[in-house]
Amino acid sequence: MPRTAPRTTPMRCLRRIAELRECLAEWRRRELRVALVPTMGNLHRGHLALLRRARREAERALATIFVNPIQFGPGEDYAEYPRTPERDLELLREHGADAVFLPQTEELFPHGTEGHTQVRAPELDGILCGASRPGHFAGVATIVAKLFGLTRPDVAVFGLKDYQQLLVIRRMAADLALGARIVAEPTAREADGLALSSRNAYLSPPERAAAPALYRTLERLAGRVRDGARGLQALEERAREELAAAGFRPEYVSVRDARTLAPPADPAPARGPQRLVALAAARLGKARLIDCLPFERQATPPDGSPEQQPVK
Ligand code: PAF
Repeated sequence: MPRTAPRTTPMRCLRRIAELRECLAEWRRRELRVALVPTMGNLHRGHLALLRRARREAERALATIFVNPIQFGPGEDYAEYPRTPERDLELLREHGADAVFLPQTEELFPHGTEGHTQVRAPELDGILCGASRPGHFAGVATIVAKLFGLTRPDVAVFGLKDYQQLLVIRRMAADLALGARIVAEPTAREADGLALSSRNAYLSPPERAAAPALYRTLERLAGRVRDGARGLQALEERAREELAAAGFRPEYVSVRDARTLAPPADPAPARGPQRLVALAAARLGKARLIDCLPFERQATPPDGSPEQQPVK
């Protein structure tokens, strides 16, 4: 259990690496554990849930705000990504962050971004979102490894919505023995099921009205698989068609092994429940939205009865 260390000091805004180091050194001298919440700012309820989790996990909660240029590909939305630092600071202060680190690109990348050392998780980073955003997960893994190097957190908190990102970071932290325990918070949603995302701001009112179809499609897909329908590829194709009918331009809809993101055995093996995740990325207007739904499918009984289940 975390030791109790009352938060009596105001939130610290750390803009330079030296200030960050000084703050962390003081916390370490006092044997306070640190939970890190890396963000790109434009904070919403989902980020605040990560912060709440961080406060439960350690005596000190440290957020970072940095729109990381190396995780955006050419032609992506780096320039227009919403930046709302004053409001973000207010929210972090109100919700009990102990400190926030807001580095400048020049200080994190003093030699530029081009020749920077890269961290990759090659078994995970070229599929699904990685297939349409080459280099994206290397950019994420690299900045997160750098933030871990700078802050040496005991715990780091990430959202489950970015499921592939979460697995890449877990794998990177384990492979490089970075020591931080990675914890995941469930996806925060609007009342109609749309996952909270800074990119929802790109949706026009009619697109916003159509957007919950992404999660509903995943729910239907997961439901069919859970109910024992066979033929994952056909089910995924049907889900893609449903998304297209709702006005999306689907990039992928896929059911994967929840631990490895590999295509799962289909039908389910005879023993044990299969831990799966339904994932999708799709464009709606100029927004690229992603979502996921982890679920379990029961083993196929020896008489193969799930095969008989009609596809709903
Ligand atoms: O999920 C995000 O906001 C970003 O990808 C992260 C983890 C902060 C790295 O820039």
